[in-house]
Amino acid sequence: MAQENETVSRPELNLADYNTDKISNAYLDTYDEFLRPFIGKNISLLELGILNGGSLQLWSDYFTESKIVGVDIHLPKDFNPKGDIHMFKGSQADTKFLSEVCNNSAPEGFDIIIDDASHVGELTKISFWHLFDNHLKPGGLYVIEDWGTGYWEDWPDGRGFEMRRNSNKLSFFLDFFRKVRIGFFLYFPRLLARLLAYPFVVKMPSHDYGMVGFVKQLLDEQSAKDVTRKRISGKPTRISKFQKMIITPSIVFIIKAE
Ligand SMILES: C[S@@+](CC[C@H](N)C(=O)[O-])C[C@H]1O[C@@H](n2cnc3c(N)ncnc32)[C@H](O)[C@@H]1O
Repeated sequence: MAQENETVSRPELNLADYNTDKISNAYLDTYDEFLRPFIGKNISLLELGILNGGSLQLWSDYFTESKIVGVDIHLPKDFNPKGDIHMFKGSQADTKFLSEVCNNSAPEGFDIIIDDASHVGELTKISFWHLFDNHLKPGGLYVIEDWGTGYWEDWPDGRGFEMRRNSNKLSFFLDFFRKVRIGFFLYFPRLLARLLAYPFVVKMPSHDYGMVGFVKQLLDEQSAKDVTRKRISGKPTRISKFQKMIITPSIVFIIKAE
C-alpha cells in the first residue's frame, strides 16, 4: 500500500498551530510514512483521547474530505471543530460503547485508529483487540502512542527498567571459579542458593508490565506463524493478524493483514 502513494507529501501543517499535546513536528515526521498512503483519499479516522481537540482538527486538515471521530472520558468545552469531526464521551475500555460509536460512525470499519488516551497497558490492550479485530479495515493502520510511559516509575502502571546481571551458564561458572579463590567454604552457601535459584533467575533484562508489557505481547502476535509452528519440524496453524508492526521510540504502528 505504501508504494502506491510514495510521491505524495503531507499538506503543509505546523503542529504549533494546533492545541495538541503531540509535542513537536518530529511526531508528524514519524507518522508521515504511515499516513502517506491515505492522503487524498476519503477515509475515516478514529482517535482515542481528545484532550483539547487539537489533534482531531489536525487530522481533519491532514485528511481533507475525511471523517474524523474522537472518543474521550472528558469532552473539551471550548473546541469548535471545523470539518467532518465528531466526538463521543466514554472510556476506551468500554467495548460496548466503542462498538456503538464505530457502528454508527464507520460501519465499514475505520481506515486509521490512533490510541492517544490513557497510556495504561490494561486499558490500551482492551481497546486494541476490540477495535483491531472488529472495527479496523483490512490494510488499515492502528497506532499506539507514547508506549514508553511503561518505563516511567511515576506513571500509574509504569515501572523502572532494571538491568539485571546476565546469568548465562558460562558467566555462572566463571564467576564460580573466581569465587573459589576467595574460599570455597565461604562461597558454598551462596553457590547452593544460586543453584536452587537458577531456574528462576532472569536471563535477560525484562519488563513485562504496563504499556511495555502490552507492546511485547504484540510481538507474539506478529510471530504467530512461529508461535503456532512450535518446532522446526512443526506446521504453523495460523499466520499473524499483522501485516507489519513497526516500533519507534514513542509510537507503535501496526498494519492489519488484508
Ligand atoms: C494525551 S491526551 C490526548 C491528546 C490528544 N490526542 C492530542 O494529541 O492533543 C489523553 C486524553 O485521554 C483521555 N483519557 C484518559 N483515560 C481515558 C480512557 N480510559 N478512555 C478514554 N479517554 C481517556 C484524557 O481525558 C485525555 O484527554
